[in-house]
Amino acid sequence: MAYLRWRRFLELAALDHPWVGETFMRRGGAGPGARPAAYWDRLHSGGYDRLLNSEQRHHHRLLAALVSESVAHPRVLDIGCGEGVFHDSLRPFAPAAYLGVDLSDLAIAKARARITDPAARFTLGDGARYDAGAERFDAIVFPECIEYLGDPIALLDHYARFLAPGGVFGVTQWLGLKPLRLWRQVKAAADIVDEAVVSAPWGGAWQVWTCKPRG
Ligand SMILES: C[S@@+](CC[C@H](N)C(=O)[O-])C[C@H]1O[C@@H](n2cnc3c(N)ncnc32)[C@H](O)[C@@H]1O
Repeated sequence: MAYLRWRRFLELAALDHPWVGETFMRRGGAGPGARPAAYWDRLHSGGYDRLLNSEQRHHHRLLAALVSESVAHPRVLDIGCGEGVFHDSLRPFAPAAYLGVDLSDLAIAKARARITDPAARFTLGDGARYDAGAERFDAIVFPECIEYLGDPIALLDHYARFLAPGGVFGVTQWLGLKPLRLWRQVKAAADIVDEAVVSAPWGGAWQVWTCKPRG
């Protein structure tokens, strides 16, 4: 418990003072990085049932409200959608369209079985470079998955072409010293619209932000 409190103190301090994070970060490894589909299939075969729990979804609720405030009834592309859990929070805002993309075919099968919204579609794909063709979205979101999708700047650059005019990116990630590096990289390259920290009831927190491509 004392260790968790210490971690929390460091993570919150590192939000405003990057040197705190860089000083106390565990060495070795660059962070999560890409994992193969089989890894995600294993998690989606049972371990990820917990992501459906209400207390696991406060970051989704905030992100859904932010993107729907920016455009009512938004068209949303959800990268790394898993079993479609973000859609549960988006549904009250009646999205005009929703497309969830995930690398795990088990996740996609579970999402299709669970979600009955006629505006929702799910497809198997690599979220690091998914091609949405001619479709355009008011929001492209990466809830708890951006750290698995490679260089975040190249990622947002790739997806900018699929944003409708005025569209936003939305990201949530677990607050940690290494993820804070990713957040700073994005902040340096994109225009932040909103950002917040959402505390989890069991300790720890998520970062939630929306941003627009610069220029
Ligand atoms: C921590 S889970 C988050 C799931 C969901 N977005 C949520 O917020 O509950 C990470 C998800 O990203 C997916 N994922 C990881 N790498 C991916 C990739 N390259 N392309 C698409 N999905 C990916 C995994 O299959 C998994 O469903």
